[in-house]
Amino acid sequence: MKARQSLLILTLAACAGITLAETAVRNEPIQPLAPYVPADAAATAKAALGEKLYFDPRLSKSGAISCNTCHNLSMGGTDNLTSSIGDHWQRGPINAPTVLNSGMNLAQFWDGRAKDLQEQAGGPIANPKEMAFSHELAVRVLDSIPQYRDAFKGVYGKDTIDIQMVTDAIAAFEKTLVTPDSRFDLWLKGDDTALNDQELKGYQLFKGSGCVACHNGTAVGGNSFQKMGVVEAYKTDSPELGLEGVTKDEADRFKFKVPTLRNVELTYPYFHDGAAKTLEDAVAIMGRIQLGRQFTPDETADIVAFLKTLTGTQPDLKLPILPPSNNDTPRPEPFNAADSEPRPQNG
Ligand code: HEC
Ligand code: HEC
Repeated sequence: MKARQSLLILTLAACAGITLAETAVRNEPIQPLAPYVPADAAATAKAALGEKLYFDPRLSKSGAISCNTCHNLSMGGTDNLTSSIGDHWQRGPINAPTVLNSGMNLAQFWDGRAKDLQEQAGGPIANPKEMAFSHELAVRVLDSIPQYRDAFKGVYGKDTIDIQMVTDAIAAFEKTLVTPDSRFDLWLKGDDTALNDQELKGYQLFKGSGCVACHNGTAVGGNSFQKMGVVEAYKTDSPELGLEGVTKDEADRFKFKVPTLRNVELTYPYFHDGAAKTLEDAVAIMGRIQLGRQFTPDETADIVAFLKTLTGTQPDLKLPILPPSNNDTPRPEPFNAADSEPRPQNG
């Protein structure tokens, strides 16, 4: 009888244990990322159209630059360059942030000047330093291609394409670019074996020293603007003013959108000026100028080990095959007339 009773208690405890592990998320300032689930078939069709547009270099003047050029989904949604290379090899003013999980940002761009992904997506197409095209030309290119016309009609139910549809479809695709199931998420969901001792120590330090005041929530950032250089001024050659450029309020000088730290292992180099080449540098600088803390090399290594557990499952994409141009499609103009003069002969 006694044995049966304790067996019952054991069984109950085990059941309770299992339920806990499966449902209870640890009470931490960072929450696990949910995978993207399309609402319905229409949402899937819209994202599929947006995916084509995201990869289509014909939305640029040169015919060579797509969204994926600077937000390369093979490389964490960034270009891994200090600053991006745009039309005619122009140097961009600022480091390209990742598009991964960007749907969670409170606003888009380092200074938040676009309110959401759709508003953002119109920017680079017409930006002379990026894709250097115009919205009219981009629409003309797409409108000349029957397969695109059909796809837009299928999604938007209209015979004509406009730039709002283009940016809406791209934004719908970007919203699918979430990276769930990082090891840290598994730990948050109760898997004690998901992190090793060093990674756990790193997380405790990240939390205990105050990083989490700004890097928190589901995206571990992306939800506030904060001053770069709270305790000590940040030294940079970049003229960027951050939020002040948008609000014209001097109090907002050098405030930038706190970047998400999800997949930060993949999104080097770091900071808006791309000046920190390694995660160790970025962590040491953050400790010093945001918190007035000089981490030991071991402490820095622990935090870096924790940050690397934020790398999630990358979007599983099949390279989209784009419908071909035809005789009616406006042609790309990669070079200025002067660029195309014949090269002098050798000798
Ligand atoms: C020539 C490189 C380049 C191209 C091409 C480009 N981007 Fe960007 N993108 C950047 C840079 C640089 C920034 C940051 C600009 C800023 O904050 O002022 C950025 C910012 C963004 C952001 C904001 C992310 C955040 O966290 O604030 C999103 C989203 C984005 N781009 C999506 C796109 C899409 C969609 C396209 C294609 C229509 C595109 N980009 C084309 C370089 C590029
Ligand atoms: C007061 C708010 C604040 C605190 C505290 C803070 N950060 Fe940041 N963090 C930011 C902001 C803002 C940026 C972007 C600054 C920029 O690029 O100008 C940033 C950028 C970063 C980046 C670079 C990400 C990228 O993609 O470029 C890393 C890594 C980082 N922080 C880690 C940490 C760590 C580790 C701590 C604790 C030692 C910490 N942060 C504390 C606000 C903060």
